[in-house]
Amino acid sequence: MKGHIFQLFEIFVKEKHGEMVLDELYNETSIPENVIPFLKPLTYPDEYLLGMISALSSKTGLSVDQIVYDYGKHLVPGLLEMYPQLIKSIHSTSGILKRVEHIHVTEIMKLYPDATPPDIKLKEWDESKQEGVLTYCSPRHLCRLVDGVLDGLADRYKEKITYHQTHCMNKGDKECVYKISIIK
Ligand code: HEM
Repeated sequence: MKGHIFQLFEIFVKEKHGEMVLDELYNETSIPENVIPFLKPLTYPDEYLLGMISALSSKTGLSVDQIVYDYGKHLVPGLLEMYPQLIKSIHSTSGILKRVEHIHVTEIMKLYPDATPPDIKLKEWDESKQEGVLTYCSPRHLCRLVDGVLDGLADRYKEKITYHQTHCMNKGDKECVYKISIIK
């Protein structure tokens, strides 16, 4: 995954669990020393991130799912700050969700041709009801990250979001499907 995803994870660990914990995670996982610090434009093995998440889970007693969710929620402000050009005329959760496919498939691929972004789409969006369906498909099966990002976006734009996952890749479905509703 791209280096900035790792950078945002480092910031999350420092802010939520402390700088010492981050150093311990580096030491306890098999990330080569010369790789740190992670650099935004480079691509690193997913295993580095998953290794640090698993080590953080053992250390804190929090489940991996909980950590992935917390990380997703925490990363939203940092992610939006890193890519101001992609969100400059967007001021709402639905605004981001309407652009999420374009951002991943077109903009991110333009910036980093070696990226392997997830396939996320907002479908059947009803503007008057503020309701729609979000689908997520990725070999990484990180739907807990999607949950966190959805809640992080609603916090960022001072909205309320409810979502209900009807299908899940972790349960054998071909994609994750969410019914989403936003209250402004
Ligand atoms: C300005 C908005 C966004 C930007 C700039 C952005 C950018 C990125 C980038 C660069 C990656 C890494 C891809 C790679 O390393 O190959 C990524 C991964 C990911 N993004 Fe986004 N993203 C945005 C919004 C969202 C939203 C709204 C969601 C969920 C609703 C989301 C869910 C994910 C997930 C789950 C991954 C992990 C990779 C995977 O599951 O395969 N992103 N994003």
